[in-house]
Amino acid sequence: MNKKHEITQEFLNNILESMEGGVLTVNTEGQITSFNHSAEEITGFSKEEALGKDCHDILRSEICKDACPLEETIKTGKPIYNYEIIIKSKSGEKVPVNITSSPLRDSSNKIFGTVENFRDLTKHKGLWGRLREEKNRAQRYLNIAGVTIVAINEKGITTLINRKGCEVLGYEEEEIIGKNWFDLVVPEELRQKRKQTFANVMAGETKEIEDYENLIVTKSGEERIVDWHNTTLTDEKGQIIGTLSSGEDITMRKQTEAELIRTEKLASLGQLAASVAHEVNNPIAGILVYVSLLLKKHKEQNIQTEATETQLLKMKKELERTARIITNLLDFSRQSEPNIRPIEVNATIEAALQLVEHQISLESIRLDKKLDPKLPLIRADFDKIQQVLINIILNATQAMSDGGTLTITTSAAEGIKIDSSIKDTVRIDITDTGIGIPEENISKLFTPFFTTKEKGKGVGLGLPMVHGIIEKHGGRIDVDSKPNQGTTFTLYLEVMDGK
Ligand SMILES: Nc1ncnc2c1ncn2[C@@H]1O[C@H](COP(=O)(O)OP(=O)(O)O)[C@@H](O)[C@H]1O
Ligand SMILES: [Mg+2]
Repeated sequence: MNKKHEITQEFLNNILESMEGGVLTVNTEGQITSFNHSAEEITGFSKEEALGKDCHDILRSEICKDACPLEETIKTGKPIYNYEIIIKSKSGEKVPVNITSSPLRDSSNKIFGTVENFRDLTKHKGLWGRLREEKNRAQRYLNIAGVTIVAINEKGITTLINRKGCEVLGYEEEEIIGKNWFDLVVPEELRQKRKQTFANVMAGETKEIEDYENLIVTKSGEERIVDWHNTTLTDEKGQIIGTLSSGEDITMRKQTEAELIRTEKLASLGQLAASVAHEVNNPIAGILVYVSLLLKKHKEQNIQTEATETQLLKMKKELERTARIITNLLDFSRQSEPNIRPIEVNATIEAALQLVEHQISLESIRLDKKLDPKLPLIRADFDKIQQVLINIILNATQAMSDGGTLTITTSAAEGIKIDSSIKDTVRIDITDTGIGIPEENISKLFTPFFTTKEKGKGVGLGLPMVHGIIEKHGGRIDVDSKPNQGTTFTLYLEVMDGK
């Protein structure tokens, strides 16, 4: 090597090392022959690791596999400017770079390799960098959301999902993005219908339903209930290009609602069981006496007397009563399916009273029924309304442990305001002369687990359950109470053919 050449080489090396962009040179075989400091920083590979390696093994870009800018330069002898590729750094990170490739020629103008210089676009303070920053920021916002956020394009392909969505569904982001949303997460039996609705919305034929509950299936095959809020996405011309939805996993809430009704039912059953057992025991004791009498007569062959007939009839009556009580209790304890049908309010009250009558008489409470015989029918779930009445009546009896009067009144009440509508209703007033409710407790009555009763007597789920059932029926419940004087619970239930 002569002196002049040495200076030139060193001079060149200095220039290369001081350059901000990554620079590497390759020979005609594609092997790396030089690698500057910036190239080390961008790729994460050291000079020692890179030298002599195939360029593809260091840049590791998917695009270069099919269309290698370097081969192109060597073949045509023409530079390629600003070719954008995504390389994979040594640590596996994807880095978008802008690459320019120019031929290297020897003194006889023969190409002996290429020089590649590339810039890390994420570091570049240009549009690319800003866009990427924006996207990262948006993704961060989406990721702290406690609900699923998902965007679907007009073909039903998922284009965005946040972290919560991945968690709920049990998939990695890569497993969801680019896939058909409906094929991936909608249960098979609902899929066709949902796809059709979506297609109609995309075609602008139907408006997207803004709020609905729907089932989804997670990766592990579990079904979850999600409450969705949707909005359609449009381009600058107003063309529909997809939907953006947020969804809240309400599976737990739904289960809790059902659980609440079950728990309260068990609690009131527990309270009822003792009194019903008592109630059933009396007629059975009576029947036993008659049976013994009849057995004695039978032995004496003295059986067909008038007295015998009277005794048998009494037994029959008592047995019928026992059977009725048991049937009613069993009906009440049964897990009934929702069953909305026309019902008579007075009959429902009588059925509820049959179960609590004994409790009422035990507490020496006088029962005053003022039932209007000409009430219109209401559309309701008999079992659920019965459960509501039992809870309110039991609360009333528990509030009158020193006795008192329980008054149950029914009447037709027209033009009652319920939420924002005016309805024709049947009104039920259940009034006690008990301890009353202090002003500050009135607002807490419908909160789950609010109770003033000792352990074993109350769990505080009765009125929340009552409220839930009445609300589901589109009805209304009012409370009026004066401490030490008594309480009235008023229910309004819409009549069947009301305005
Ligand atoms: N008729 C009533 N008179 C006085 N207090 C009442 C009456 N009804 C309800 N309450 C009050 O409301 C609370 C909540 O009632 P509820 O939800 O049925 O639960 P629980 O009966 O298990 O306590 C009761 O603990 C009681 O303090
Ligand atoms: Mg109660």
